[in-house]
Amino acid sequence: MVNLKWKGKEETKVISPNANETIPFQNVEIYQFPKNDNKSDENWENLLILGENKSVINSLLRKFEKKISLIYIDPPFATGGDFNLKIQIGEEGDILDKISYTDKWGAGLDAYLNFLYERLVLMRKLLTNQGSIYIHLDWHISHYVKVIMDEIFGIENFRNEIIWAYPAASVKTRRFFIRSYDIILFYSKSDNFVFNDDPNIYMEYSNRVKNALKKDEHGVFYYRGGSHNGKKLSRKVYVEKEGIFPRDVWNDIPYIRANTLEYQGFSTQKPERLLKRIILASTNKNDIVADFFSGSGTTLAVAEKLGRFWIGCDLHKQAVHMTRKRILNLRESNDILNWKKRYQRDPNSFRILMIEKGNEAISIPTEFLKNTNEEALKLQMNERPNLNVRIRQNDNKVEIELIEYKVPFIDLISEKVQKNIGVFSDFIDYWAIDFDYNNDSFKNMWFSCRNPKSRILSLKSNSYQYNSSGSYYIVIKTIDIFGIESIKKFKIKIT
Ligand SMILES: C[S@@+](CC[C@H](N)C(=O)[O-])C[C@H]1O[C@@H](n2cnc3c(N)ncnc32)[C@H](O)[C@@H]1O
Repeated sequence: MVNLKWKGKEETKVISPNANETIPFQNVEIYQFPKNDNKSDENWENLLILGENKSVINSLLRKFEKKISLIYIDPPFATGGDFNLKIQIGEEGDILDKISYTDKWGAGLDAYLNFLYERLVLMRKLLTNQGSIYIHLDWHISHYVKVIMDEIFGIENFRNEIIWAYPAASVKTRRFFIRSYDIILFYSKSDNFVFNDDPNIYMEYSNRVKNALKKDEHGVFYYRGGSHNGKKLSRKVYVEKEGIFPRDVWNDIPYIRANTLEYQGFSTQKPERLLKRIILASTNKNDIVADFFSGSGTTLAVAEKLGRFWIGCDLHKQAVHMTRKRILNLRESNDILNWKKRYQRDPNSFRILMIEKGNEAISIPTEFLKNTNEEALKLQMNERPNLNVRIRQNDNKVEIELIEYKVPFIDLISEKVQKNIGVFSDFIDYWAIDFDYNNDSFKNMWFSCRNPKSRILSLKSNSYQYNSSGSYYIVIKTIDIFGIESIKKFKIKIT
């Protein structure tokens, strides 16, 4: 068998999660929605996890070993570039680019291969015996990863190298051919894997076929064509289904554009239609789909809309926050099986978790700052933003209004950001209320947030009605444009 060697591989080779590595998860937020009719497991809650995926997978293994039907990952490609997400301030403020993660591997290819290898070994353990994994890559690294995957999954379980071809952006090079496709490696865990012939994954007929389609006297479509011994014929070829079973070259899925409904402002966001084909082909309803580099949450949003359970993970707080808003706003997104319509349904319940960490000092992405004199920054950052609310109580009904949000480090913020702040609420991207906090997890019982397509933030909550008298804690959570989370707790009495 051919094996790839690189510096450091031997040390990473034998990986089995040991008890010390399984760090407990901490609840960040719980969203409870009435069960959608397409869910059968009463107790399941989808999971969005903030954390480094090696620790996250290690911690998931205890409960989910051999439980996950599909893993799709879109890891950094080792492109040597930075990726950004776009953050808009307030309702009409400027859009700022914030560097979200760096895809530069100081220690080179060896370090990158070690990183991916360890994680792929762990991911394999999570897959059911009928499960599959899809790894989204490009020309930078895919040929190395193919060899590694043959080693981990077995060359006999290699199913496809999918080419996702898209129109190239205007590239100026004349020194080589313009690169215009990504590569998705598809492996199954065994020879007995789920693969569905579902008409919803079909590719459309080419324009040539579409133009040539005619209806016969029974209303069935056909075109004239076919060949025999190299000779063209003019036979009626009947069309049974809407489209053709997909080849391994996918050129029918456009890249995300800023004017589309699915656009989240995340520079490496993948199209929902790509994930639709993968999820429908390789899973059945109520299977678990996971993405451990979930970015803006494309895999999770599509899995949700297709009635699959999901687990997502990202290292980056802003990516997790973007996904939270994307799932909460699913109602307004495209219906994945009927693209011209909106989905129009709430998501199923989900939970945001994080791998337990100590008390972190708050930090602001340097792109928002005037300069980055570290000592001065550390001092200022220890002071948290100041959040003020008004609570209106009318018998057993309570309403909350946001009335102030002050950041103590305003002098450190760049002029570009400052000039976009008109009112205090321009700082705020999301706020939520738990009207009945029990010293456990924050239950999201009401929220308002800004989305790429709808910028209005409601500063007053709906009125919440308590059903029995007693003392209650209300917890209010805000997330600002810097990604800083603030929490305020109040006690109220219902008589
Ligand atoms: C290419 S993006 C994924 C984009 C995603 N497919 C989408 O459609 O939005 C890769 C993501 O992996 C995350 N990431 C990189 N290294 C990670 C790690 N070790 N653990 C968890 N997430 C990681 C980055 O923060 C980034 O959001």
